[in-house]
Amino acid sequence: MSPPAYVAPIHDSTSSFKSNIFEGKVLFCTGGASGICRGMTEAVMRHGANAVIIGRRLDRLEQTSKELSAATGRSCISAQADVRQPKSLKEAAQKAIDVFGRIDFVICGAAGNFMAPISGLSENAFKTVIEIDTLGTYNTIKATIPHVRATKGAYISVSATLHYNATPYQVHVSAAKAAVDALSNVLAVEEGPHGVRSNVIAPGFIAGTEGFDRLANKNDQSNGFSAPLGRFGDVNDVANAAVFLFSDAASYVTGQVIPVDGGAEHLRTTF
Ligand code: HXC
Repeated sequence: MSPPAYVAPIHDSTSSFKSNIFEGKVLFCTGGASGICRGMTEAVMRHGANAVIIGRRLDRLEQTSKELSAATGRSCISAQADVRQPKSLKEAAQKAIDVFGRIDFVICGAAGNFMAPISGLSENAFKTVIEIDTLGTYNTIKATIPHVRATKGAYISVSATLHYNATPYQVHVSAAKAAVDALSNVLAVEEGPHGVRSNVIAPGFIAGTEGFDRLANKNDQSNGFSAPLGRFGDVNDVANAAVFLFSDAASYVTGQVIPVDGGAEHLRTTF
């Protein structure tokens, strides 16, 4: 399969933080080859970190690694792994240690999604999304925790706001992301004494991502959606939240679930 066409960096950073706050740090990001996770990786690199991005498709990983290294002047490498396979994630973590010697920040971001009603969702389809989103987050934490303890680092798990209301056609993702929120909170409580923080970013509708394309109603440009801030999110909105949560400015913030959704969680009952 040929690599996808070059995708320019999302856009110039809108961060308010200095560009060297993550100097010497290393980010380990599952799902980092595309979308929101790519954007968060780029932002963390723009603040000085090197990165390892993890995913299933080697061609896409390598292309993104090249682009992020070129765009940020930092080093981004790829590790091919399926988050459903603990062994492949442990190998990816070891690669990070072999190349960079440390892991400071982890983004548990790999996710799977499609629209389907319960009546049309096979047992395997439900299980597949639980395995990618929930088990994948658990496996990522397990593979990295000794390294993150060593640096007194921090985790961000990527969740959603779908499960705050009953979102139709999203039972699999809603169940999976509710579990991700719980997992992150327990991690925060257990690992706090070791100096490790754990938070969740719950993105709303973030335009220009695969998730948005998969969920958008192609016949309704508004998607029946409204947010108090009057627009869809973009990747930079989520990336800036990640920079804050990994920064020392958030050194007393742990065990939190932070929606980045323009306030939509308070309005939306369906989409
Ligand atoms: C019903 C479906 C389906 C669909 C797949 N399945 N697509 N069922 N409707 N549209 C079923 C299959 O028939 C199969 O069940 C089971 O799911 C597993 O499918 P596979 O294709 O074998 O699995 P796999 O190759 O591992 O792919 C996983 C995937 C795929 C989740 C199905 O979509 C994927 O790889 N996605 C990764 C990228 C992605 O989704 N990114 C967006 C994340 S956005 P049977 O019974 O036939 O075996 C996101 C944001 C959420 O998470 C919040 C938004 C606001």
